[in-house]
Amino acid sequence: MPELRVIREPREMRFHAEDLRRDGRRIVLVPTMGYLHPGHLSLLQAGRSRGDVLVLSIFVNPIQFGPKEDLARYPRNLQGDLAMARGASVDVAFVPDERAMYPTTPLTRVVVSGLTEGMCGARRPGHFEGVATVVTKLFNLVQPHVAVFGEKDFQQLAVIRKMTRDLDLGVEIVGSPIVREHDGLAMSSRNAYLEPDERLQAVSLSRGLAVAEKRFNGGERGAAPLLAAVTDELAASPLARLDYAELRDAETLEAVERVERPAVLGVAAFLGKTRLIDNRVLSPQ
Ligand code: PAJ
Repeated sequence: MPELRVIREPREMRFHAEDLRRDGRRIVLVPTMGYLHPGHLSLLQAGRSRGDVLVLSIFVNPIQFGPKEDLARYPRNLQGDLAMARGASVDVAFVPDERAMYPTTPLTRVVVSGLTEGMCGARRPGHFEGVATVVTKLFNLVQPHVAVFGEKDFQQLAVIRKMTRDLDLGVEIVGSPIVREHDGLAMSSRNAYLEPDERLQAVSLSRGLAVAEKRFNGGERGAAPLLAAVTDELAASPLARLDYAELRDAETLEAVERVERPAVLGVAAFLGKTRLIDNRVLSPQ
């Protein structure tokens, strides 16, 4: 097995990236917050064939968490993550700590407007600014040719695509499909928080989306009945509390009343204190 190089210092990461580029190597970056699961591994696998040097970053980014969110308890397991990275033939694990990434309080933010007005953007003020800012920093340090993101965080992927285009960051953004548990629950590091009874009812998000998709495939195009499939399923799960269910254009993320072009049905719900998200793209033929 080739050696995994673990880099903690942003400066060392930048020097290494510059060396790699000078040698004509193609760099692929998979940014994560760690506590890796098969969803993350699928991104690494998608990235592996797209370049010569596969870089995994692990950084729990404080500026994308709200004051009442789960930053302090976000799950971490660096040794386990590095073992999984070796198994996935990652070449470089970039694992900076908070002080290295933000040595002084950052006063600068990358703001992507419009796309962040609905869905998670409306519920988590400042979240996507924190994401866009840290991803910009990671792009600057790792200098990737390609970066891979999951469709599980559909709005995040849209924001990063737009930011990359708007700012000419010169990185090819690749989206990768949602990886699910056997019962349909989208894999997430946050699933580790769920109590057994919450875990059982967490399937209501994906189940509601599946019912909506079935209605869509049966010819339904109206937002209200498609959204009702999701909200009804969550209402039938006493431990689940709906945060939002929205139907939006898959590209612009504008709200749609009827599906005439590809649209994304996005849902967020709390199971106890744990907030989960899921989505499904509905594409008319
Ligand atoms: P994190 O939640 O660790 O996710 C890292 C990447 O894995 C994201 O691109 C996410 O969409 C993808 N991912 C997570 N679960 C997935 C699943 N079940 N199937 C497919 N892909 C999945 O997203 C973040 O971290 C952060 O916001 C980050 C982009 C690293 C910036 O801090």
